[in-house]
Amino acid sequence: MSLELVKVEMKVNGKNIYRNVAPSMRLADFLRDELHLIGTKKGCNAGECGTCSVLINGVLKKSCLIPVIKVNHCEVVTIEGIGIDGLSIIQKSFMKVGAVQCGYCTPGMIMAATAILKANRNPDRAEIRRGLGGNICRCTGYAKIIEAIELARDVLNQNKTPDCLEPAVPTDTSKIIGSCTERVDAKGKVTGALEYAADMVMPRMLHIHLIRSKEVHAEIVSIDYSRALEQPGVETVLTSDDVPGQDGIGVYYHDQPVLAKSKVRFYGEPVVAIVAETLDEAQAAAAFVEITYKKLPVVSSVAEAMAGKAVVHEDHPDNLVCSTTIVKGNVEEGFCKSHVIVEQDYATQCVEHAYLETEAGLAYLDPDGVLVVKSCDQDITHHRMLLSKILNMPINKVRVIMTPVGGGFGGKEDMIYQGILAIAALKTKRPVKLVFSREDSMVGSAKRHPVLIHHKIGLSKDGRIQAIEITMDADGGAYCLSTKGTVAKAAILGAGPYEIENVKVLSRGHYTNNTPSGAMRTFGVLQPTFAIESTMDICSERLGIDPIELRLRNAVKDGSLTHTQQVLGRVSYSRTLQECARLSSWESGPSWVRGSERKDVRRDQIATPYIPGSEFKALEALALCNSRFRYGRGVGTGWYGIGRCATVDKAGAFVEIDDGGTAMVLTGVTEIGEGILTVLTQIVADELGIYPEDVTIGDNDTARVPEAAHAGASRQSYMIGNAVMNACRDVKAKFIREIADYWNVDPSSIRMRNRRIYVEGHGHYDLPLAEAVDICKKIRGIVPLGAGTYTAHHEGLDQTTGKGNPWQAYVFGSQVAEVAVDTYTGEVHVLGIWAAHDVGRAINPRGVEGQIEGGAVQSVGQAIMENFELSGGVPSNKSFAKYILPTCVDVPEFHSTLVEERDPFSPLGAKGIGEPAPLPTVPAVINAIYDAVGVRITQLPATPEKILNAMAEQGFNVF
Ligand code: FES
Ligand code: FES
Repeated sequence: MSLELVKVEMKVNGKNIYRNVAPSMRLADFLRDELHLIGTKKGCNAGECGTCSVLINGVLKKSCLIPVIKVNHCEVVTIEGIGIDGLSIIQKSFMKVGAVQCGYCTPGMIMAATAILKANRNPDRAEIRRGLGGNICRCTGYAKIIEAIELARDVLNQNKTPDCLEPAVPTDTSKIIGSCTERVDAKGKVTGALEYAADMVMPRMLHIHLIRSKEVHAEIVSIDYSRALEQPGVETVLTSDDVPGQDGIGVYYHDQPVLAKSKVRFYGEPVVAIVAETLDEAQAAAAFVEITYKKLPVVSSVAEAMAGKAVVHEDHPDNLVCSTTIVKGNVEEGFCKSHVIVEQDYATQCVEHAYLETEAGLAYLDPDGVLVVKSCDQDITHHRMLLSKILNMPINKVRVIMTPVGGGFGGKEDMIYQGILAIAALKTKRPVKLVFSREDSMVGSAKRHPVLIHHKIGLSKDGRIQAIEITMDADGGAYCLSTKGTVAKAAILGAGPYEIENVKVLSRGHYTNNTPSGAMRTFGVLQPTFAIESTMDICSERLGIDPIELRLRNAVKDGSLTHTQQVLGRVSYSRTLQECARLSSWESGPSWVRGSERKDVRRDQIATPYIPGSEFKALEALALCNSRFRYGRGVGTGWYGIGRCATVDKAGAFVEIDDGGTAMVLTGVTEIGEGILTVLTQIVADELGIYPEDVTIGDNDTARVPEAAHAGASRQSYMIGNAVMNACRDVKAKFIREIADYWNVDPSSIRMRNRRIYVEGHGHYDLPLAEAVDICKKIRGIVPLGAGTYTAHHEGLDQTTGKGNPWQAYVFGSQVAEVAVDTYTGEVHVLGIWAAHDVGRAINPRGVEGQIEGGAVQSVGQAIMENFELSGGVPSNKSFAKYILPTCVDVPEFHSTLVEERDPFSPLGAKGIGEPAPLPTVPAVINAIYDAVGVRITQLPATPEKILNAMAEQGFNVF
C-alpha cells in the first residue's frame, strides 16, 4: 500500500521550495535526493555523527532525524547556503588553519561552527567544544577545527583583520617546500561541493541491498530468492553462483568469496545482493529471500582457534593464517646475564576505523564494453587486478576510478563490495550503486586486530636490555585480508626501537569466526608498541631509572643492528625523546606513582580544557580538581618502516609542462584526507619553479594514470613524492635542453623559478615560462613530457630467523601524555600531548601537525574508550551510539615539534607521518594513568570500570 504524498513548502538557502513528499521522508534525504544538495552528508543516518547538520530557523539540527513534513514552513540553511557570495569567514578559517582533512565531517562542522558563533559572538574554548559535541571528526583530532572557530570569532569581532584569512601567497617558488601551503582540495570540502561516492547518480541507476548473515558460522543449505525476483522494482538477485570468474578477494590470500559461498564465516557476511530500481524496493524484497543455514561450532577467540574448536577454513585445519619468527642472538644467554627479569601479558581490543564516509560505489559498463567501478578505494590497482579475475575479463577491460575518500585509515584497502557492484552492472547492463549503512560498515568491514601479547624481558642493573622474548597471537577473524602483513610488521617492530643483542619474537595470526581483522593505521604495530612501551615503564620502576633515560640508554642509533639485523643509517630516535622531554619540561625520575609530587603536571588546568560536568567557576573547579582528580604523566615512543614491508615497493608518475607555464601531473595517488595532493603540488611547484595554483593533478583512474600502488604504510609522500620529483626532473631536463638549444646556451646555466626560465646573470635570456612552453611546442615541435619512477629496495625476511632489510627508511617518534584521573568515576581525561616526530623533511608542516593531532586522538580513543565488542562472534555495538569515539570534549592540548632527519636514500628526503603518529600515544596515556593512580592497565581499553576496580583492589582511597 503506497502512502499518500504530502505537500511541503519551505525556504531552503533563501529559495522557496514546494514539493510533494512521502510523510516518512527525512530532511537529509529530501535535501540530498530531491534538491541535490549533496553537502549534507549521511555518516550514520541516526543522529550520532553530525555530518547531516543544518540550520532550521537558525537552530542547529541533525537533518537525518527530522521528517521533512516537520520542516513545513521553516527556513533551512545547508552548507550550500553558507557564503553564497564567496566563502564565509568560517569557511575561510577552516581552510586557513588546516581544519580540513578527508572533508566528510567538514560541512557539518561548519554548520555547527556557524551555530556556535550565531548564538554567541565571543565563545571561549570550552563553549566551542561544547557546541561541537554532537559532531564527530575522525581525522583531525579536532584541534585545528577549534582553532579555526577561534580564528573566525576573532575576525568577526574585529580582533583580527580579514586579511589574516587569506592564503599565504609564496613570493619565491624555491621556498614552497616547507611552507604551510593551503590544501589544494580544501575549497570543495568547505563548500560541500565535492562529490563523494554516495553522492553520485547516473541515469537508469539501480540500487543494491545486501542480505548479511545473522549466523556466525554455518553451512548455507539453500537460498531461495524466486519470490524476491517477483517483487516490484527488482531487477535481479545475486548470489555466489553469479561470480563469472575466480571467486576470491583479499590482500594476501584471496580466501573471501565475493558473496558467501557454501558457508558463512562471520556475522554480517554478505550472502545475497538484491538489485532494484530503488533502495526501498531492494530492501523490501529482502523479506522474500529464504536462506537455510546449518549451524556450525563458533570459533570466537584465539584460544578456541588454537584449541581447534572448529575449522574456519578447510585448507587451514589448524586455523593458523600465518606466522613470522624473528631470532637474533640467544635469549637464554641474555636472560642469564640479566639483573632484572620482567614478564607481563597484554591484550588489545578490536577497534573500528569509524571513517565518517561509509563504503560506497557505482559501477557501469561503458559503451565500449569496459566495466567501470567508481568507489572510495585505497588501492585501485590491486582492486582492478582482483576484479579482472572475478569477472574473468582482460585487465584492460576493467577500469577503477577512485572517488574522494572520506576517511580510510587502512579500512578501504579491502575490496569488500566492489566485486558485487561489478557483477551487478555486468549482469544488468545498467549502472548500479551500493552505499553501506553505518551498520553495514561496522559489521562488514575489517577491524584492528585484537592481539594477545606475552613479554619476557631481561635487563642489567644499569638498565641495558639483555634479552627479550615476545609471543603475539592476533585474532585475524574470518578472512585473511591483511593479517599476513600486520603479523609480520608486528614481529619486525614489536621489540621497539632498542638495541637488543638477544631477541626472539613469534607473531601469529589465527582464523576465528569474528569480524575479519585487516589493515588499520599503524598496520599491526600499535598493539606491540603499547606492550613494549608499557614494559619499559615497568622496568623503569623496577630499576629506579627515569623512563626517558631508560629508553635513551637502550635507543637504536646510527649503525645499530635492528632485530632483523639490518644496519640502520641515520637514526633520530634519541632526538625525538630529548625534544619531547624538553618540550614537555619533563621532570625526570623513575616511573612509579609520583604524579602527586611531580612538578611538571599542571594541576590547575582542569577547568580548561573542558571536562564535562565541571562547569564551575575557576575556584570551585580547582577545589574539585584537588580533591578528586589525580594527575600523572607518561612517555611513549614508536618506530615505523616506511613503505611496503619486506618486498619491493614502487611508484610511477608522468608530468607535462603545459600551456601557460602550468603543469599536469598523472599518478595513481590516493588522497584519503592526509593531504598528499597538496604535498605533490608543492613538490612539482618547487621543482618546476611555478606556483601551487599552476599545478593540476589528474584523477586516480586505472585507465589514465601510471601505477603508484596503495595508500598505506605511510608510503605516499615517500614513494609517490619521489616518483613525481623524478618525473619533474625528467621533463625539466628535456625542456631546458630545448630552450638551451634555441638560445644556444649551455643547458646547465638555465634556471626555472618564479614562473620564469632564465640564464643566471644574463637578462637577455629570461622568459616567462608560458612563452618558453610556446617555443618548445610551436617552434621546437616538442611536447615537454616527463616520466618518473621510484623504487624502494626492501628485502624479504629469512623464513627461520627473520633476518633481512624490510625497509630502507625508518621514522621515530616520542610523546608525553598528561592525564587527570577522576578517582570518583575512574574516567581519564587526557589533558596534554607533547609530541616530537621525525618526518624526514616536512613538505607541509601544517599538514604534518594535523596528522600528529589526528593520529594521537585516534589513539586516545584506543587507549581509554574504543572497543568493538563481540560475544560469540556477534557484535553488540554496531552504531556510533554504542561504539564510543573521542569527541571534541576529549581533545588534549597539543604541543608538537618536528625532527627533520632527511632520508639519505630518497632525493626528496621526506619520509612519512600518518601511521607513525598514533604509535606513542596509547602507551604514553597508559603510563600516565599508572603515574596518576598506580594502576597498570594491561588490557585495552582503560575503561573507568577497569580503573576503579584495579584501584579498589589496591586499596586506593580518595576520601
Ligand atoms: S547522519 Fe545525521 S547525525 Fe549522522
Ligand atoms: S576531516 Fe573530519 S572526518 Fe575526515
